[in-house]
Amino acid sequence: MCDHCGCRNFAPIAELTAEHEEILRLAWEVAESGDESSSHSLPPLLAALDMHVRKEEAGLYPLLTQVGRLPAAQLGSLEADHADTRTALARGEFGRNEYYALAAHIEEEEIELFSAARFTFEEDEWEHLEEAHRSQDPSPGLREVKDR
Ligand SMILES: [Fe+2]
Ligand SMILES: [Fe+2]
Repeated sequence: MCDHCGCRNFAPIAELTAEHEEILRLAWEVAESGDESSSHSLPPLLAALDMHVRKEEAGLYPLLTQVGRLPAAQLGSLEADHADTRTALARGEFGRNEYYALAAHIEEEEIELFSAARFTFEEDEWEHLEEAHRSQDPSPGLREVKDR
């Protein structure tokens, strides 16, 4: 990562992308475990998912709404996906269908939302996105790791 080409701005997107990978990996283990309530992958999945959802709902979603790139109906449907996933996991009803629904949600974010952010966000929005992430997750995150 460098200081002059703007790629530093994409660090919050890289952070969300890395979280997607980890969430999908754990979610597949839970879905495949047969008895998801006793899967050892469930606690780390819930922790990763809750943190990730808080970041998106405090940062990416409202910022995209502000710049006119996230219609209310799509916002509502994305937030409903978050709630549905959480409910399925809490009820022990997270199987392959729920996994594929989660994967489709993540694909929608990566293809539509992340590219909308890349093309639309200015310095201000990138700063607010980073602040929203750190307010939910004070850990250094991916950026510090990549800067090393
Ligand atoms: Fe999401
Ligand atoms: Fe996401």
